[in-house]
Amino acid sequence: MNRIFKILILLILITSCKNDNQGVISENAMVVSARSEASQIGIDILKKGGNAFDAMVATELALAVCYPSAGNIGGGGFMIYRKNDGEVGALDYREKAPKKSSRDMYLDDKGEIIEGLSMIGGLSIGVPGTIAGVFEVHDKFGSLPIEELIKPAIDLANKGVNVTEKQSEKINENLEYFKLANKEPILFSNGFKTNDTIKYKNLASTLTRIMLNGKDEFYKGETAKKLVKYIQKNDGIISLNDLEDYKPVWREPIIFNYDDLKIISMSPPSSGGICISQIFKMIEPYDLKSYGHNSVDYIKLLVEAERRSFADRSHFLGDPDFTDIPLNDLLDKEYLKTRMEDFSFDKPTDSNELSHGNINIIESDETTHYSIVDKFGNAIAATTTLNGSYGSKLYCEELGFFLNNEMDDFSSKPGFPNMYGLIGGEANKIEPEKRMLSSMTPTIVEKNNKLFMTLGTPGGSTIITSVIQTILNVHEFKMGMNEAVNSPRFHHQWMPDSIRIESERFDNKTKNALIKSGYKLNDKGSIGRVDGILINSQNKLEGGADKRGDDTAIGY
Ligand code: DON
Repeated sequence: MNRIFKILILLILITSCKNDNQGVISENAMVVSARSEASQIGIDILKKGGNAFDAMVATELALAVCYPSAGNIGGGGFMIYRKNDGEVGALDYREKAPKKSSRDMYLDDKGEIIEGLSMIGGLSIGVPGTIAGVFEVHDKFGSLPIEELIKPAIDLANKGVNVTEKQSEKINENLEYFKLANKEPILFSNGFKTNDTIKYKNLASTLTRIMLNGKDEFYKGETAKKLVKYIQKNDGIISLNDLEDYKPVWREPIIFNYDDLKIISMSPPSSGGICISQIFKMIEPYDLKSYGHNSVDYIKLLVEAERRSFADRSHFLGDPDFTDIPLNDLLDKEYLKTRMEDFSFDKPTDSNELSHGNINIIESDETTHYSIVDKFGNAIAATTTLNGSYGSKLYCEELGFFLNNEMDDFSSKPGFPNMYGLIGGEANKIEPEKRMLSSMTPTIVEKNNKLFMTLGTPGGSTIITSVIQTILNVHEFKMGMNEAVNSPRFHHQWMPDSIRIESERFDNKTKNALIKSGYKLNDKGSIGRVDGILINSQNKLEGGADKRGDDTAIGY
């Protein structure tokens, strides 16, 4: 009897240990997003019989209500999809530079960058794409009436949203910026405490008008007129004509193989797909498994591949509608092999001595991610952003939402870093109506021609390297989705020449070995918040919701 009891206790212990690492498991469908309210709204749509595209519309708008630091209708994003018949595609609903923008708009008479101008206030705002994006998705793939998809966000805005501890911290950290950017007090001016409820009455009215009048309400109607008046009153240059002319664009995703995986990711104007493809190809010849997860050699290899890819990013990448991107050369296996020829485990490459690769161009130069799988087998990976936390910090009180500061993703001055320390060149210079280069990397992975994973993350430049590490955690190190997204991460982006690392989560032996080899480490409390779904070996869905945020997986 005593023995059976002991075995039972042991079994319970083993199961609960396993559960620590395992995410939410479901049979049919799942939504993983930055807030439980948004995941719940998405899953309710799926339970009602809606498809992943319907759930995308509902989740995106719900995030605009319950996660206002990044969820938005005043920003833009990218979405990758894979339908159950294997069709894949990408939607670009990225913001655009206003028609009145110009290359040197953030420089003073001496040609120096005017600090903050591209990051805070009216001039930092790009023409928003989110409302056009969700309507485009619904027109092409939606199955439920649009009213049913917008209504839950309106109800949530009216009912109010509970403030989490992480959210109240974020709001309170931004109070001085809200004051700096806004001429009048805003809903957030006095901060919020944990467990307060925020009601978004004005946002509810704006969303109601959009529900009744369609996307034209945002781009031509009463909302458009109010928005333009507000932006111009705050020194912005977006005109009604900018809004009227905004269009989302369906693009060919970047597709490549790594071992037996097929990876489908975002194409330019995001650098995400190209960079992850380059990095995966550069590391493919090495036996990563034998080095061990987050071991010194594993970190060195990834860091050196990342360094080389980010050097290419800064030189070659920009909006494909304005810049000729040598895509085939950048993704060529031989080219990438040459890029790694001077890599050595013995010593770091010096970023000052490493430039972009040698490619002859033929003449002609606080974000949030959610993942959805429906019961039909359709999958979505969508990343949406205002750029910085609360974007330009400008909150249009009358309409009830924050506006992006996406203009900072352009290169304000060649060779000078933006807020993520990213350096850009000619390819990403400011031009009227151009889309700014992004790092957002919504990604879907297939294995044996079947859906295997859908994932993505916020985190500026660290998005690219967080997505790669999460895929490697599952593929090379056999982790489940939850463990993969919650594992410690590191990042290198060529310039600045240091490894950003979640320092407290790596042991001293590893860190000292890297320092001894000549690497500089830059402690970063937390890198990215990856949200993903994995189809596990039992053909069930496993959600990975990043514990770095309030992210939540809900399935059924
Ligand atoms: O498009 C980009 O790459 C940036 N605007 C993303 C910003 C971001 O991830 C902020 N989140 N922490």
